[in-house]
Amino acid sequence: MARITAGIGSSHVPLLGVAVDQGKTRDEYFSPIFAGYDWTRDWEKQQKPDVVILVYNDHASFFDMKIVPTFAIGCAERFGICDEGWGPRPVPDVEGHPDLAWHIAQSLILDEFDMTIVNEMDVDHGLTVPLSMMFDTPKTWPTKVIPLAVNVVTYPVPSGNRCWALGEAIRRAVESFPEDLNVQIWGTGGMSHQLQGPRAGLLNREWDNKFLDMLVGDSDAARWIPHIEYLRETGSEGIEMVMWLIMRGALGKKTRCLHRHYHIPCSNTAIGHIVLEPEA
Ligand code: DHB
Ligand code: FE
Repeated sequence: MARITAGIGSSHVPLLGVAVDQGKTRDEYFSPIFAGYDWTRDWEKQQKPDVVILVYNDHASFFDMKIVPTFAIGCAERFGICDEGWGPRPVPDVEGHPDLAWHIAQSLILDEFDMTIVNEMDVDHGLTVPLSMMFDTPKTWPTKVIPLAVNVVTYPVPSGNRCWALGEAIRRAVESFPEDLNVQIWGTGGMSHQLQGPRAGLLNREWDNKFLDMLVGDSDAARWIPHIEYLRETGSEGIEMVMWLIMRGALGKKTRCLHRHYHIPCSNTAIGHIVLEPEA
């Protein structure tokens, strides 16, 4: 059967895509950020996941106010790269896994999560930047990807508890797929950042690190953090961290931390990432 073997939470700052595309990853500014991902890049080379369920948000690049799906699953063979204003990033298209994606969609919907099924979609920096951080600049991405887009841009945004429960349902879905597949789940976005208004530039090292602590072990306290706490403590865009809870929920009762990294600042954002394994 298919198994979720690991989870990653990671920021998805668009500037890091620019650094990769322009060969600046070891410049003074970017070096401490990319050095924090060295361990994870090496680890991924050994892990060789068949499929990554990549939980991310579209930043009004593909979706817009015409249609705002709360949870959308990409079931296509292939996903193109969004033009976010400077042309699409020069990265490979993303190859999907339609059989597993449709299986997950069916399992989730019968499990009472009403997913939007998307058969044609381009993906933005929320998805491509984490791929670049984990896999560098390959000619084709070394894993298939099932994009799972979450609305964290237009309120009402799903609650942390709903996200955690969706993760639990994703685990049930993956474990009922008969093919032997090594599946990872990534949650992207965050950490603390606010991109506009009087509090633009807000960062909160202490809160972010407490959040990272909460993802390790057997506590499920993070699922109960209310939206207003993300807004107050981590800025308006810190709400992206609810997507990490889908990843955490999919790892089961208890996790073990394999690697963790945090750095301030990266563009306007606190960059953090964590690699977790499910623990029986
Ligand atoms: C930045 C961070 C994000 O998560 C994002 O989606 C856009 C911009 C930033 O820090 O510049
Ligand atoms: Fe973002």
